[in-house]
Amino acid sequence: MRKVIEVEDVSKIYIRKKRKGLFKKEKIPINACKNISFYVEEGEIFGLLGPNGAGKTTLIKILTTLLLPTSGRAKVLGYDVEKDANKVRHFINAMLMGERSIYWKLTGKQNLEYFASLYHIPSKEAKSRIEGLVSKLDLEEFLGRKVETYSSGQKFKLAFAKSLINNPPLIFLDEPTATLDPRAAREVRQIIKELNENGTTIFLTTHNMNEADELSHRVAILDFGEIIDLSTPDALKEKVSKNASIRIEIPSSVNINLSWDKELKDLPFIHELAYDQKISGNNDNGNGSRAVVKLVCEKNINLTELVNIFENHDIPVYSINSELPSLEDVFMKETGRLLSEDTSKK
Ligand SMILES: Nc1ncnc2c1ncn2[C@@H]1O[C@H](COP(=O)(O)OP(=O)(O)O)[C@@H](O)[C@H]1O
Ligand SMILES: [Mg+2]
Repeated sequence: MRKVIEVEDVSKIYIRKKRKGLFKKEKIPINACKNISFYVEEGEIFGLLGPNGAGKTTLIKILTTLLLPTSGRAKVLGYDVEKDANKVRHFINAMLMGERSIYWKLTGKQNLEYFASLYHIPSKEAKSRIEGLVSKLDLEEFLGRKVETYSSGQKFKLAFAKSLINNPPLIFLDEPTATLDPRAAREVRQIIKELNENGTTIFLTTHNMNEADELSHRVAILDFGEIIDLSTPDALKEKVSKNASIRIEIPSSVNINLSWDKELKDLPFIHELAYDQKISGNNDNGNGSRAVVKLVCEKNINLTELVNIFENHDIPVYSINSELPSLEDVFMKETGRLLSEDTSKK
């Protein structure tokens, strides 16, 4: 198989300037990618999984020539991202998070025609491609309207169409479903699968373990700028298959540094514990915001003993769910943390 992405020892250091006193500025280096090496083969869906702040967007920007690496080399479709940036840009396409770059005063159709012209696609060909995208992505209903009237879902679809306008053999998607509701996210995952079945290689980032698992042929797990594991989802999960995992929801106001979490860890059937204090969007039944305690444990556990610890500390337990081995367990095994934890400020 042909390698369509080859990354060799790529690092990226940002310099963040922080005011120090009245006149001085301190320069703080942020090592967003650390000596990253991997390749992607033609025809793959390659998933880059990592928490917020792991360096996913930075890496995708390097591969799509929007950002230069501080050191190392990367080739995309055989072209060097630094020396042959124009070639790379011509053949690939990308949809980056927060970067929708569509023209609000134009209609969706005018936008697509404009972007087709940037790729020097003859207008007859552009017309038939746009028609193809309209039916693939269901744009019919709104394509004739100005973008400023679109819902966020419609804007997303147009941005997606834009990223397919040049029939790219390789497309980069930065957290494509992060802002979508579950139904729209499912639709997008389906489209990604179909694109791939029709021959498009896909490089996708996500912090959603299920998405990475469902879509990717291979997954690289990224944490603090480093690839900490890379394999097929099955091979990765095989590493944690001997264990079970349990997700417990408690109030986020509970102090994590009290003895209860040590007591949990001391239970003989519990191997690992990770905690995320801020789980958003869980205020629906008046319980306030929730924290998640995730346990990796033996398959057979003593549930009473487990629940008693919470009870003894007067900690309300909102829910307890056992989960199948997931890519998050792999992440937790390697890092002791959950994927939902934001690492961008650390
Ligand atoms: N332009 C920038 N200047 C300084 N630091 C940055 C910049 N962009 C990103 N970072 C930092 O680099 C790290 C990786 O960020 P990013 O690539 O956006 O991660 P992800 O996409 O996985 O959330 C984070 O710590 C982030 O705060
Ligand atoms: Mg990002």
